Amino acid sequence: MTKKWSDRFDKGLNPFIEKFNASIEFDICLLEEDLDGSIAHARMLGIQGIITKEEANKLENGLQQIKKEAEDGFFQPTIADEDVHFAVEKRLIDLIGPIGKKLHTGRSRNDQVGTDLRLWLRKRIDEIDIYLERLQVSLFLVAEQNLYTLIPGYTHLQRAQPLSLAHHLLAYVEMAQRDRNRLKDVRKRVNISPLGAAALAGTPISIDREITSSELQFQDIYSNSLDAVSDRDFAVEFLGASALIMAHLSRLSEEVILWATEEFGFIKLTDRCATGSSLMPQKKNPDVPELVRGKSGRVFGHLQAMLTMIKGLPLAYNKDFQEDKEAIFDSVKTVKDSLIAISILFEEGLIFRKEKLNQAVSSDFSNATDVADYLVAKQIPFREAYQLVGRIVKTSLEEGILLKDIPLERWKTFHQYFEEDIFQKLLPSSVVEARLSSGGTGFERVQEQLVFWREKLFK
Ligand code: ARG
Repeated sequence: MTKKWSDRFDKGLNPFIEKFNASIEFDICLLEEDLDGSIAHARMLGIQGIITKEEANKLENGLQQIKKEAEDGFFQPTIADEDVHFAVEKRLIDLIGPIGKKLHTGRSRNDQVGTDLRLWLRKRIDEIDIYLERLQVSLFLVAEQNLYTLIPGYTHLQRAQPLSLAHHLLAYVEMAQRDRNRLKDVRKRVNISPLGAAALAGTPISIDREITSSELQFQDIYSNSLDAVSDRDFAVEFLGASALIMAHLSRLSEEVILWATEEFGFIKLTDRCATGSSLMPQKKNPDVPELVRGKSGRVFGHLQAMLTMIKGLPLAYNKDFQEDKEAIFDSVKTVKDSLIAISILFEEGLIFRKEKLNQAVSSDFSNATDVADYLVAKQIPFREAYQLVGRIVKTSLEEGILLKDIPLERWKTFHQYFEEDIFQKLLPSSVVEARLSSGGTGFERVQEQLVFWREKLFK
């Protein structure tokens, strides 16, 4: 038989419903934060004279003992405990007797769970920041080695203009920096204390919310008790920031997967991050980026689920909120694991094939814009030059030759302004070198960016 919920009830829960209702299986990971929150609350009750100093000490010692038990693996709540908050309170009463029943004075599980979740997420945000920085460093170190390595640049996945490989990789370093800044901003709104909002309306007991807030190192307290217990905006924002991290990782993954194909052949996967096929002996598969690309969907889904979960909820607490936890926990794990996996991939999982890259940028028409720019420098209007080069590309394609193979006399028939120096301009390295506009792929500009990031990442 299940226990009746309280003396207001006559019967216990249907056993299936008891399990359905319980969150202990997943909210147990909030244990440390629940204990910290309760210790702060107990101290405050003592300071305010709501309970005696001795009682406050007893509560705190009991809570510390539960911490110890948890570390030693002796704290084993069951489904009957319902959630981490009840599990702790019950164990406290077992340990220190009836005084334990004073802990929940002037507090509700509604402000308690909000406090726990914010404390937990605040730590995880700080950890994710470290993993984002590791990703930046991994990408940067490959970039730094490859300022003069060229890679085809694409638009519409059609060859466009060649790039410095460093420039390409630094684009992802920039994205990761925005991800870090976004999380830093989200953290400000995670870092506000709802503790003391009680069930929804505040409490007649003379608590001091500032004491618990500063004890738990929150930046501020919620000004409205209803908002305090009902706000899950911080969770949506966190999942939004996480979804963008995964979107960035997924785009990078997709590029790595393409680069590793026979058709592109820009990288070789090392044995550290690739697997074979159970059937085809020749295969080497890019599992790591594929998994990360696949996992992005989980986080996008959690964001959608969170928005859907809150959208119809009247104030204040509703049990629906219990669903916020698994979405956050799974997203944190997915983001962390994916960041680490992609970092390892760039640290030891792939090698750029420079001869292949060189061959790729030397055998296409991605220097065509530069022919037009050559004429523009001689005062030909751009659109006119563009049309002319279009015709030159067309005839070259028909004849099966590249621009670099057109003899000078032939260039002269296209336009009298073409001189011997056109051949220098057609070199892929000249094409890249020339793009010196700020933020461009010109070696000088990219070198400045490498200096900037070395300074920032290794200060
Ligand atoms: N386990 C609950 C949750 O995660 C704790 C809050 C319960 N509050 C309540 N009024 N039933 O949301």
